[in-house]
Amino acid sequence: MKTIDEINWKGKKALIRVDFNVPLDDQHRILDHTRIEGAMPTLEHILDQQGSIILMSHLGRPKGKYDEDLSLKHVVQELEKRLNRSVKFAPDCIGKEAQDKARHLKNGEVLLLENLRFHAGEREGSAAFAGELASLGDAYVNDAFGASHRRHASITEVPKYFREKFGGELLELEMEKIDLLLEKPKAPVTIILGGAKITDKIGTIEALLDKANYILIGGGMAYTFIKAQEGQIGKSLVDENQLEVARWLLNKSKRSKARIVLPVDSVISKSAEDPKTRVVASREIEDDFMGGDIGPETRRIFTEIIARSNTIFWNGPLGIFEKEHFQEGTQTIAQAIADATGRDAYTLVGGGDTTASITRFFLQGSFWHVSTGGGALLEYMEKRELPGIDAVSVPSETVLFS
Ligand code: 3PG
Repeated sequence: MKTIDEINWKGKKALIRVDFNVPLDDQHRILDHTRIEGAMPTLEHILDQQGSIILMSHLGRPKGKYDEDLSLKHVVQELEKRLNRSVKFAPDCIGKEAQDKARHLKNGEVLLLENLRFHAGEREGSAAFAGELASLGDAYVNDAFGASHRRHASITEVPKYFREKFGGELLELEMEKIDLLLEKPKAPVTIILGGAKITDKIGTIEALLDKANYILIGGGMAYTFIKAQEGQIGKSLVDENQLEVARWLLNKSKRSKARIVLPVDSVISKSAEDPKTRVVASREIEDDFMGGDIGPETRRIFTEIIARSNTIFWNGPLGIFEKEHFQEGTQTIAQAIADATGRDAYTLVGGGDTTASITRFFLQGSFWHVSTGGGALLEYMEKRELPGIDAVSVPSETVLFS
C-alpha cells in the first residue's frame, strides 16, 4: 500500500474517503469527535503541501435517499474549526454542483460532499456511481479505516479509476497498532468481548483462540454461551441460531491456548428499564428476569486477569451501561484497562458503543490506542486484510484518471 507521503500534493485534488460516521444528538451536535480527529493528520499533510481536498463519507444508514438528520452538513462547522479554514459543501455528492465546486477548488481549499449513502449506488458498489465520484479528483486516498470492511462504491470501486491511490495516515496507524498487537504482543494477552451480538464476534474469537491467553466474555452475548452450556438465563438476550456455534467454540477452546471466561454472576432485573436489581449466579436467572450487567464476583475475576495482562484488547460493553443501574461492570472493566495503560500494557479498544462508554466514564486518553473501527476492527483482527485496504494496494487494471 502506498502512503500519502510518497507524492507531492501541490496542485493536486485529493479525493479522500473518510469515515465521518459520527453520533449526533437530536440537535445534530456531534457527540464523539474521535473519527474526525483521526482524519486530521491526512488532511493537514495534504493541505500543508498546498493540495486541495474533496471529502467523501457516509453517515448512518439512510435508505438510499435524502435524510436531513443524516446530512454531512452537520459536520462542516467542526471541520472548519479544526482545519482553521472555511469548508465548502456540495449538497449532492455527484452531479453538476459537485462537479463545478470540485473543478473550481483552489490549492489549500476543502470541499465536503453530502452523504454518499443518499445514493443507493454507494452500498450497491455501482461502477457508474463510482465513476462519477472518481471524476472529481486527481488522486484517491482511503483514510476510512472504520468503513474499509464494506464493499461499497467509494471504498472498492472508486480506487479502480486511479493510478495514484494511497492509504491515509489513519489507515496506516490503525494497521500498525493492530499488527503490533497481533504479531508482537506482550504476554499475557487478554481479549475482552461484550455487546449484544455474538455473530460479528465469532470469527474474532476463533482467530484469537491460539493467540490470546484469556478471552473474557460479557454483555448480552455472554448469555448465548451460558445457555449453550445448559444454564438458565431467564429473559436475557440470546441468539438461538448461534447456540451450536457457541458450543463449538467452547469445545474448541479446550484444545486451544486461550481460556474462555464467562460471567459467574449477573446483575438482573425485570427489564432494561427496571432499576430494581439483584445479583444472582449467571446460570440461575429466573424466568421473569434478565441479565443486564456482569456481577461483582465476575468484575473481580475479570479485573484480576486484566491486572496481570500486558496486552489487552477490548470491544463491546459488558452490560447495558447507558442505564445507571447496569453500568458498573463496563465502568470497572474500562477503569481496569485504563490502569493497565498506566503500567505500559498495550491496551487497544474499539467499537462505537465501547468508545461511547469511555466518553461516558471520562476515560478518553487513557488507552494505548482507541480504534475508529467497529466491524472493520474485528474483521481486520480476524483476517488481517480488508477490501478497502486491498483496493488501494493493487494496481488498477484500467485507469481512467491518474
Ligand atoms: C461504523 O460505524 O462501524 C462504520 O462507519 C461503518 O458503518 P456501517 O456499519 O453502517 O457500514
